[in-house]
Amino acid sequence: MMKSVVLMFLVLLVSASVAVAVQPNKQLEFTHSSMGTVIFDGKLHNEHAKGCRECHNKDVFPKMKQGTVTITMDEIYAGKLCGICHNGNRAFTAKGNCGRCHKK
Ligand code: HEC
Ligand code: HEC
Ligand code: HEC
Repeated sequence: MMKSVVLMFLVLLVSASVAVAVQPNKQLEFTHSSMGTVIFDGKLHNEHAKGCRECHNKDVFPKMKQGTVTITMDEIYAGKLCGICHNGNRAFTAKGNCGRCHKK
């Protein structure tokens, strides 16, 4: 019992430091939509966000790993996921701005 708790702690510790080492100063590509690829610029978004936890928390994008959350427009329109900012307040709203995210 004790042994597995210690092991789990070590795994968490290692994965946390690995994630921080891979600062998302890179771009993520979301290619599953027929509307065209969405390029998410990590650098631009880190400049605008109040830290990693604004996105990486249990309600938004829990894991620092691409592909763990399925992004739909319904959720974005409802103010979830990318829509916590792309709502016309923090950042441009999704409705009517398809081409600012989706590139063919
Ligand atoms: C504006 C939102 C946002 C902010 C701020 C943000 N991230 Fe992310 N990050 C994402 C999204 C979205 C994904 C993809 C998650 C998914 O597909 O489930 C991601 C994925 C990642 C990945 C995995 C990349 C890959 O290739 O799989 C790492 C590592 C990461 N983030 C680290 C960080 C760190 C460190 C910070 C703070 C310096 C940070 N992120 C801030 C939105 C954000
Ligand atoms: C923390 C708030 C926040 C979150 C969450 C967020 N964005 Fe943004 N995003 C911004 C801001 C601010 C800009 C700058 C444009 C503006 O001010 O409207 C921006 C700009 C963009 C741009 C335009 C980049 C350019 O070159 O013009 C794209 C594309 C984009 N975001 C996609 C996404 C996607 C996809 C997600 C979800 C995975 C997401 N954003 C989540 C705040 C956010
Ligand atoms: C803030 C960025 C952003 C804007 C603006 C945006 N989308 Fe998306 N959209 C995404 C992301 C991210 C995905 C997920 C793509 C993936 O998983 O590969 C997505 C997925 C989709 C999908 C497939 C999933 C679903 O919900 O059916 C469709 C269709 C779509 N978008 C249409 C649109 C249309 C139409 C508009 C304009 C009215 C629009 N999008 C505006 C970011 C955006």
